[in-house]
Amino acid sequence: MINTSERQHPTTSPDTEPDAKDRSAMPEAVIKLEGLTKFYGKSRGVIDLDLEVMPGEVFGYLGPNGSGKTTTIRMLLGLIKPTDGAATVMGIPLATDSVQIRRKIGYIPGDPVLYGNLTGAEYLEYTANLRGGVDWRYVTKLTERLECDLSRRIDTLSKGNRQKIAVIHGLMHKPELLILDEPTSGLDPLMQETFEEIIREIKDEGRTVFLSSHILSEVEALCDRVGVIREGKLIAVEDVATFKSTQVRTLQIDFGGPIKSEDFSNIEGIRNLVVLERSLRCDIIGSLDALFKKAAQHEILNVTTDEPTLEEVFLAFYNDGGETDDAA
Ligand SMILES: Nc1ncnc2c1ncn2[C@@H]1O[C@H](COP(=O)(O)OP(=O)(O)OP(=O)(O)O)[C@@H](O)[C@H]1O
Ligand SMILES: [Mg+2]
Repeated sequence: MINTSERQHPTTSPDTEPDAKDRSAMPEAVIKLEGLTKFYGKSRGVIDLDLEVMPGEVFGYLGPNGSGKTTTIRMLLGLIKPTDGAATVMGIPLATDSVQIRRKIGYIPGDPVLYGNLTGAEYLEYTANLRGGVDWRYVTKLTERLECDLSRRIDTLSKGNRQKIAVIHGLMHKPELLILDEPTSGLDPLMQETFEEIIREIKDEGRTVFLSSHILSEVEALCDRVGVIREGKLIAVEDVATFKSTQVRTLQIDFGGPIKSEDFSNIEGIRNLVVLERSLRCDIIGSLDALFKKAAQHEILNVTTDEPTLEEVFLAFYNDGGETDDAA
C-alpha cells in the first residue's frame, strides 16, 4: 500500500495536532472508511478501503472504468451491503441507518434513473415535497444556470438534459455533504464549466464534496485532495497540488528554423527527448517554464500536448517523488 491514509489532511497535520485533551475539538471525518470491502460473489468490487474525508473538503475519487468508484458510493448510500469492514457517513454508521444518511446528503449519479413519465418540474416538486426544506428559488436559479428545460417529460430528454435534472435534484436541499458519481458525464463543456462554478460555491460555503471521476483534469480543477483507486484498491491519497507537480506531459514543439538537441537536453524534468531539425518531442514532469523559455529563443510555429493517461500519472508519481514502500 502506498502513501494512503497515513497522510493527514491539513486540518489534522502533525504541526497543528492538538494535545490529547483537545481531541474532542478535532473535526470529525464526514466520510470514514475502515477496511471497507465488497465482493460480488467471487468477483472483486473493492478491497480494504481506508479513508477519511474531512469537513469542507472537495475530495476527488479518481479511477479508471471498473476500478470500484460506484461500488464504494453505493455502499456509502446504503444501496448495497459491504462484505467486510465498516464506514460512517456524517457520523452515522452504514449498518444502522442508511435512510437517515440518504436524507442528509445530496447524491448525483452518473446514470440517473428518473421517473420518465413526469416532467422535470413535476419530478423535482415531487421529490422536494418528500424531502422537505427545499428553497424553490434556489431550484429556479440552478435551472437557469444549467439552462435546463423543466417543462418536458423526462423520457423525451437527451442524456445531458436528464443529467441536469439529476444535478438539480442532488443540490436542491443544500446538503452538507454531496456524493457525486461522475456527475458531469453527458454534460457539454460549457455546462461542465457551470457545474464546476457551482461546486466551487458549495466549497466556499464550507460544505463537503466527494466526487468520483475518471477525468484527471476535472479532479485537478475542483479538488483539494485526490484518492486514486485501481482494481478495487486505494493506491494513493494525495494533495492535488502534489499530484500536479509530478504530472508528466507529452509535448511537441514545431519551430520556424533549426534547433540544437543540446539546448534542450539539460532542462529539468525532461525525458525521452527527440530532436529533429525543426521540431522536438519529449515527456516533461512538473513545470514547463524552463522548456518554454528555452523554446521561445526560436520562432515557435506550433505546440501540442497530450493529457496524460491515469496510468502515466501514476507511473510518474511513483517513480519521481512519490513515496513508495516495499510492498508497492
Ligand atoms: N452488480 C454487480 N455484480 C457483479 N459485479 C459487479 C457489479 N457491480 C460492479 N461490479 C464489478 O465491480 C467492479 C467495480 O465496478 P464499479 O462499477 O464500482 O466501477 P467504477 O469505478 O464505478 O467504473 P466506471 O468508471 O465504469 O463507472 C467491476 O469489476 C465490476 O464489474
Ligand atoms: Mg461507476
